[in-house]
Amino acid sequence: MRVKTKARTVFVCAECGADTPKWAGQCPACARWNTLKERTEAPARAAAGRRLTDFSSAVAPLTNLPAIPLSRRPCGLGEFDRVLGGGLVPGSLVLLGGPPGIGKSTLILQAADRWAKPDFRVLYVSGEESPEQVRGRAARVGVDNPSLLFVAETDLGRVIEMVKDLRPGAVVVDSVQTMVKDDLPGAAGSVAQIRECAAEFVHVAKSSGTGVFLLGHVTKDGDLAGPRVLEHMVDTVLYFETERQDVHRLLRAVKNRFGPTNEIGVFEMTGRGLAEVDNPSALFLGARDGAAPTGTAVLAALEGTRPLLAEVQALVARTLFGAPRRQVSGVDYNRAVLLIAVLDRRCGYHLESQDVYVKAAGGIDLREPAADLALCAAVASAALDRPVPGGVVWLGEVGLGGELRPVPQVSERLAEAAKLGFTRAIVPRAGGLRATPAGLSVTAATTLDEALRAGGLASQ
Ligand code: TYD
Ligand code: MG
Repeated sequence: MRVKTKARTVFVCAECGADTPKWAGQCPACARWNTLKERTEAPARAAAGRRLTDFSSAVAPLTNLPAIPLSRRPCGLGEFDRVLGGGLVPGSLVLLGGPPGIGKSTLILQAADRWAKPDFRVLYVSGEESPEQVRGRAARVGVDNPSLLFVAETDLGRVIEMVKDLRPGAVVVDSVQTMVKDDLPGAAGSVAQIRECAAEFVHVAKSSGTGVFLLGHVTKDGDLAGPRVLEHMVDTVLYFETERQDVHRLLRAVKNRFGPTNEIGVFEMTGRGLAEVDNPSALFLGARDGAAPTGTAVLAALEGTRPLLAEVQALVARTLFGAPRRQVSGVDYNRAVLLIAVLDRRCGYHLESQDVYVKAAGGIDLREPAADLALCAAVASAALDRPVPGGVVWLGEVGLGGELRPVPQVSERLAEAAKLGFTRAIVPRAGGLRATPAGLSVTAATTLDEALRAGGLASQ
């Protein structure tokens, strides 16, 4: 149906109320004479489903608006709750995206199981898998909860009806690409269908207070038109991914109207569903004891609000022909090139005829400036072919003048390092360090050269 958006002039009979598009002396309905009066009708309002929200208020100073405290409902899976910002906010829409097979259905099933209570039922709508398949997964992860309701359905209209009838606390739509709105052209999964389905769920969520999880597949390179087009419509966008081809999974919040973004949750896929990883630092560091291997340095990176210990690895090899190579993975290329130049000019490392390879171990992305010092230490250690002493954690941004600049949340980062048994930290002098964690001796340095010397990595 096309929606008319132009104003329309009609002639309405003052006696019987009938309207006609053309003026006439006699009303075509009641046959009375001279009763038709001209009236201009406002443009027809777009169909209700086409608006994302129904909010409408008078203009008022922002400070006068009523503040409604957010009530959150944690599910009990700590890693999931933290990424959500503390729990599910009633009436919020959460998009959970990720490549097929990563474990979205498993994760949401386990969370739904914990949320579902007699006074907070959860409706799981599957458009992808048969009841038997979902039952199989539920048995595998040990879900047996009468408040968790299931339906296999792809018709959007019927799902919306069910939500209105059942009034569940939360509904899971697995996946948004399988839902079809009948009166809309286009196959399931087309941009128009996905957008319209999401808009309907926005309505239901906002009007009923039901929390909605929309699951969506994203291709490996992440540029699929599907779930990405929904990012602006939903309150929270979570992506579930793995950076190494192994059992570990990272849940990231990339948008959250009700909590911090860049938060990550770490899970491990086991034979009985997803298990939370309590100590991700140990995971990103791998097994290590005694002195760190040559060409590696550890830092306490910040992922969202959480400090995570990570390792930078470097390899330096003589250039056999042509220009020296610089190859990086998990760190910013331009930044690495810049830091190599600083090492050369300010610290006496001669890398102009050396190939340098730098990598963030454990598949973590180390793009924050706080990783500069660890990167320099790793390259220095590789260039000298000398291991850095064990138990040292390096923190600091490096400026072009070779100076060390402070990094945010240094206390939290050092606390994490101390927790994992590190005994020494090399940090910028202009620090902001509030308290030194027990068991950690802290060396404050003003320049990169001073920091490297303190760590036994003087170039001569
Ligand atoms: P699934 O949740 O179906 O992924 P998605 O919904 O993102 O497509 O899980 C996919 C994989 O996880 C599947 O290959 C099997 C594996 N898996 C386990 O290893 N252990 C388990 O307990 C479960 C339920 C799944
Ligand atoms: Mg699935």
